[in-house]
Amino acid sequence: MTAIDKTVAIRDYVYTIFNDDVTGHDFAHMKRVAFMARYLAEQEQADPFICESAGWVHDIGDRKLFINPDKAVNELDDFLHSTGCTTNEISKIWEAVEDVSFSKGSVPASLEGKIVQDADRLDAIGAVGIARTFAYGAANGQLLWHDHERSRQETSIQHFYDKLLCLKDSMNTAAAAQTAVERHQFMEIYLNQFFKEWQ
Ligand code: NI
Repeated sequence: MTAIDKTVAIRDYVYTIFNDDVTGHDFAHMKRVAFMARYLAEQEQADPFICESAGWVHDIGDRKLFINPDKAVNELDDFLHSTGCTTNEISKIWEAVEDVSFSKGSVPASLEGKIVQDADRLDAIGAVGIARTFAYGAANGQLLWHDHERSRQETSIQHFYDKLLCLKDSMNTAAAAQTAVERHQFMEIYLNQFFKEWQ
C-alpha cells in the first residue's frame, strides 16, 4: 500500500471507533488533529506520515474514553500491521502517541510526539476548544459554572483556568505556539463576555 492508501485505511478505522462520540472526542477531533499534525510536520521538518497517522489514532486507548483501553490498543496494533505499515513505522506511531495526554504531564521524546501533542492541545483551545469543553462537561454531568466558589471545582468554566489558558505557553514547536496565540486571545474575549452575561 502507498502512504495515501494507508492513511485512508487508518481514517476509516478511526471513523468506526469515534463516529458517535459526544464528549468532544468525535471523528472530527481526530481529523483536525491529524491534519494539524501533518501541517506542523511540514513546518517543523518532521515525518508527515508518522505525524498524521499518530494524529488519527492518538485518543485510541485513552482511559477516560475506553472501557477496555488495553484491548483497544492491541486491536489498533493488529490493524496497523494489516495495513502494510512497516514495524518501524508502527513503532514510531506508538512512540508519538505515547506521551500526548496532558494529564501525564510529560514532554514527548520524539519530534513527531511533540507535534501530535501540540496538534491535540491546539484543538483544546479557541472556538472549537470552547465547544469541546462544554460538550465534555455535559457528557460528564458537569455544570457550566457556579455562583459559589466552593462549587466551581468541577465546572466547565473552571477547566479554562485549570488547563486551557495554560496551553498557549506549553507548546513544543514554534509553529504551534504561533497558531495558539489567536486561539488563546479568543478564549480570553469569550470568558470576559461570559462573565458579563452571567451576572
Ligand atoms: Ni485528543
